[in-house]
Amino acid sequence: MSAASKPTFIDLFCGCGGFSLGMERAEFRCLAAIDFNSQAVQVFQANFAHVTHALERDLTQFMPQELEQLIGTKHVDVIVGGPPCQGFSQARQRDGANHGPRTIDDPRRHLYQRFLAFVEHFKPKVFVMENVLGIRSASGGDYFTRVQAEGRKLGYRVVPREEDATKLGVPQNRKRQLFIGIRLDVPGYLAGELEPAPHAANHVGVTLGDAIMDLPVLAAGAGAQEMEYDLARRSAHVGGNKHHYIHRVLQVRSAKNLTAHYSRPHSERGLRDFVLLHEGENCKNAILKRGLKFEFPYDKTSFKDRYTRQSRFRPCSTIVAHMSKDGLMFIHPTQLRSLTPREAARVQSFPDWFQFPVTRTHQFRVIGNAVPPLVGEAVGHAIANLLHSAASLAAGSNANRVRFKTATRKPSIPSSQDEAFAWLTAIALQTRQELRKLDAITFLRGWHSLLYLYPELHPDNAIDHGDTQEIGEAHILGRLDLSERYSRSGWPVMLVLPGLEAWRRYEAKLLSDDDFYCIEAQRAGIADKQKNFLVLENLKPRAIANKSSRKPTQPGHYLPDACLLRSNSRRLTMDETAAR
Ligand SMILES: C[S@@+](CC[C@H](N)C(=O)[O-])C[C@H]1O[C@@H](n2cnc3c(N)ncnc32)[C@H](O)[C@@H]1O
Repeated sequence: MSAASKPTFIDLFCGCGGFSLGMERAEFRCLAAIDFNSQAVQVFQANFAHVTHALERDLTQFMPQELEQLIGTKHVDVIVGGPPCQGFSQARQRDGANHGPRTIDDPRRHLYQRFLAFVEHFKPKVFVMENVLGIRSASGGDYFTRVQAEGRKLGYRVVPREEDATKLGVPQNRKRQLFIGIRLDVPGYLAGELEPAPHAANHVGVTLGDAIMDLPVLAAGAGAQEMEYDLARRSAHVGGNKHHYIHRVLQVRSAKNLTAHYSRPHSERGLRDFVLLHEGENCKNAILKRGLKFEFPYDKTSFKDRYTRQSRFRPCSTIVAHMSKDGLMFIHPTQLRSLTPREAARVQSFPDWFQFPVTRTHQFRVIGNAVPPLVGEAVGHAIANLLHSAASLAAGSNANRVRFKTATRKPSIPSSQDEAFAWLTAIALQTRQELRKLDAITFLRGWHSLLYLYPELHPDNAIDHGDTQEIGEAHILGRLDLSERYSRSGWPVMLVLPGLEAWRRYEAKLLSDDDFYCIEAQRAGIADKQKNFLVLENLKPRAIANKSSRKPTQPGHYLPDACLLRSNSRRLTMDETAAR
């Protein structure tokens, strides 16, 4: 694919570029990357010389309008980014920082809003925000809800997705929270789990040993910023396997020399403690199971797992930025030292040609902060597939306009809003037991009507609503007032049971993937809304504005189609949609 024809992205809070590398490997083109840490930007620039705008800026000050001026366009297909996660990390939850006033005071927690400000300005087709799993429970789940609710208010179908790096071919236990937002006029869902990138597929289950045991043996404090590979050790390690992790992912042959393979020094006392540990063991287990005594001078009740010798035969523990302070949780499986920055980078799936021309402390920090490139690539492929199918679903001269041929509709897809109301009513008023007994076609019609009437909802959200509710856009369906919504999922409170029943049927394999994530229903709903929007906008814009400010209170009050178009947030107009 030529550079100009590739879809584009911006990387906010880009660090050294782990996410960007993955996106580029999935055939996206980086228009700009921004971070306020000069070492992170330095590393980014060293590896992405072709990205003209790798900027050292504070995103609390730097405005989207300034970025638009620099890159000379408002057209951006995707925005990715990882606003800092320290404010949500589980380590901080344990030390009490995620509760009480310290929670509210941590300014890093609000950086997600800076990310969303760029989304609001550029209106990309898709956004992906990465964070730690701690965001789910921080402040009682409040932030988890707010990211989704605020993303939805900007006109996105938002779904949270937990990503597990080991399942994507990364030799590391690393789970993170993704928030994926798909612009409402782009049909489709990111359904199911992320698939590994093509060169990692069929190769999951990679271990720490696979990733590092070809590297030259080092003593503590030894090694160099640049040195020769040990080719004999490499060939014994690989055993002639061309598809080995170090070739497929680390691309060792593309690196002229080995870099950043130098170990930090350790005290004599520390080394004596290291010797005691078995491979794969931490000092907590060594004390409890083998009755060992260590020399380290810490409070043994709270620092029992302070030392960990990693195992060659398992994924490594999560590589963290804290490695810049000490590497005691990352003792080499067979050598008397902690892991080097290159070993940490390999565990993160950075190729060996990726350079880190900063001091060792900063190397550890940017490596520990990064999205593993293999994860970024899996995300990139999922987005590319979504955009590709959205484009191929579209017809007509404008590829971004969603049209629908009524003649080809499945029998379960409503052909009008009236029909959708009627079909949804047939399932909305049922009890849980009645829903279970409902015949397949009646239920399917109701479920598809729900997706048709609410294309901003994601079926995956039907079982995680959170506690808070709010009054959303006025929406009366027969005898039901559907204006009460869950803040987190956006789901109408009165439609919880059909959502749960859809999940039950899906998990029992009574609903296929296609029926559960019915893009056809969603697409028809989007098309009908756009059509109505266009007609009504052209004919009576003032009348709509007046009507939409009126909140019906009487049950049974039937609102016209226009009520569906009204929202607290601003939706794209057809002109804006067509311009993309
Ligand atoms: C979790 S890391 C992101 C890592 C990156 N996604 C990657 O794959 O390498 C968060 C980054 O946010 C940056 N950051 C924190 N506050 C910032 C701010 N106010 N403006 C710009 N960048 C900031 C940090 O320097 C850090 O590099």
